[in-house]
Amino acid sequence: MFAERVLSGMRPTGSLHLGHYHGVLKNWVRLQNEYPCLFFAADWHALTTQYDDPRGIERATWDMVIDWLAAGVDPKKATLFIQSQVLEHAELHLLFSMLTPLGWLERVPTYKDQQEKLSNKDLSTYGFLGYPLLMSADILIYRADKVPVGEDQIPHVEFTRELARRFNHLYGRAPDFEDKAREAVKRLGSRNARAFEQLRTRFQQDGDAGAVERGHALLREAKSLSSADRERLAGHLEGTGKTILVEPGYLLTEASKMPGLDGQKMSKSYGNTITLREDAASVTRKIQRMPTDPARVRRADPGDPDKCPVWQLHLVYSGAECRERLDRECRSAGIGCLECKQPVIDGILAEQAPMRERAQTYLDDPALVRDILADGAARAGELARETMRDVRAAMGLNYRSGDD
Ligand code: TRP
Ligand code: SF4
Repeated sequence: MFAERVLSGMRPTGSLHLGHYHGVLKNWVRLQNEYPCLFFAADWHALTTQYDDPRGIERATWDMVIDWLAAGVDPKKATLFIQSQVLEHAELHLLFSMLTPLGWLERVPTYKDQQEKLSNKDLSTYGFLGYPLLMSADILIYRADKVPVGEDQIPHVEFTRELARRFNHLYGRAPDFEDKAREAVKRLGSRNARAFEQLRTRFQQDGDAGAVERGHALLREAKSLSSADRERLAGHLEGTGKTILVEPGYLLTEASKMPGLDGQKMSKSYGNTITLREDAASVTRKIQRMPTDPARVRRADPGDPDKCPVWQLHLVYSGAECRERLDRECRSAGIGCLECKQPVIDGILAEQAPMRERAQTYLDDPALVRDILADGAARAGELARETMRDVRAAMGLNYRSGDD
């Protein structure tokens, strides 16, 4: 288990489909075994485009979280919560809004793109413009080191990095910086800690440039450090220490190769999906009705798998041996399309079986889901409040005695 923290969010769009499973969710399930992970439903983000009809968001959030659990996201390993249940996101978003130049927001590529794409709606709102700012608050409030996102979200993570730099630049160092740095030195292990302190002294007392380089190399190689600690120690080493918010990195989630029922990418907007927990009869019907190689009009016509959308699904669900046989029999008209589709149907149903089973537990007892999300919000809230204390202190907003 690495020390770095992973955070990702998903806008609640309702039931997820197999494209989500093969793209995002399998990735989350893998990450939860490697890192401390926080995954949340970005319900406020849904409001940026659905402010005119927010009633469906609750249900969509619910269905989505059950789908996460169905897919194997494990609340014992990862922290799952709903954005709006941790109010500190809103506070940080507001503080950020004070220091963010409008031009930064207007330049984010998704801003104009989405406005044009959803042109039937008035998206010249304050909240929509601030979408990346809210996302920055989501990320920075947890001092996330790694943010798994699809390609379209990378500009938002880059925006977040710039904002963290601006914040750190404006508000300097956290007041307890030295204490935290000393704690972080300990996490290097005693041998490295001693070496690190020597290098630091050599640099700060004697201006030894080689020492500062070796100090940075030591930090890069120290696997036990989170990025927050690493940045803190870099500041400690050079005597500049000005990390309040941590610049996150992203983990690019590869676009799902899952094809939809028409051979295009699977996507709700194309109406070509199979949902994660779709019932068996409907899955069977949808696959049976899928178009095949258009040249195969009659059973006796030979086909070409490369021109058949069903083949794309065989690439996901069928083993090499099965594929080799089907390829041969398609080209020689030795097999009918319905028969050829059966292994795909079987493959999807087998993949869904454990998901349906896991989901059933939660559908039977919704209190389980409520508890998971309440626990998650409590854990996330603790982390968020810790960051907010530093943020308020850095900005001189710690009036209340309970804050320190
Ligand atoms: N904007 C993301 C999307 O549409 C969702 C999101 C909101 C998010 N806040 C986040 C993703 C923070 C990662 C981190 O997919
Ligand atoms: Fe497609 Fe299979 Fe029919 Fe060939 S036999 S056209 S691969 S469904």
